[in-house]
Amino acid sequence: MSKALRYLSKTRPEAATNLMGFYKHSVQALDEKTRFLIQIVTKITVGTERGLRQYAPKALKAGASKEEILDAAMMAFPAAGLNKLLDAINILNDLNLLPEVEDEAGSAPKVNKDLGPLDLFPEKRMQCLKRPDGDLLVYRSGPEKVAVYSAKCPHSKATLCEGTDQGDKVECRVHNWVFDLESGKCIDPSEQGGKRDLIVVPVAIVDGHIMLQ
Ligand code: FES
Repeated sequence: MSKALRYLSKTRPEAATNLMGFYKHSVQALDEKTRFLIQIVTKITVGTERGLRQYAPKALKAGASKEEILDAAMMAFPAAGLNKLLDAINILNDLNLLPEVEDEAGSAPKVNKDLGPLDLFPEKRMQCLKRPDGDLLVYRSGPEKVAVYSAKCPHSKATLCEGTDQGDKVECRVHNWVFDLESGKCIDPSEQGGKRDLIVVPVAIVDGHIMLQ
């Protein structure tokens, strides 16, 4: 809750409760990703940098791709105008939430080694990062401890982004292999020969960001 809402909840409790109730109950049919994408449009339209910085990372966390975030920003243009749109593009770029661009020579896009600030990854939750160079699973097991894996199941390459999230484990939906997300080990089937662990992607934490090595 923002400082301003906290203030209102003390000085005008009924108004604040009704306002919060409106936010909580007014939207029922939209999924989380769509709601956050729409929030991007509204934050750009009203020109609130703080709101954009708050909601754009939430859209990514809820499964929006960087292309979808860019599309949402572009949709604000008719109401927001060019200046607000360009300001928003700068902010999204700062947050590393925009798709990669080709370099001047027109060669393939450079691989962005920055997977994002640690704060984008709550502890003990698997997150899937959609990337042009291959999707990744990110699992933060402690304040400064993070494991990153290829999202391809090592059994037969199904995507574990669509696996069943079991908190500290993920289960592949195709043949139900289960992987421990802290160690990357395959823990079920426990005996079957030929089982393989998740493919580890080496990373380091640099200035609070998770960087590919
Ligand atoms: S493809 Fe994942 S368990 Fe078979």
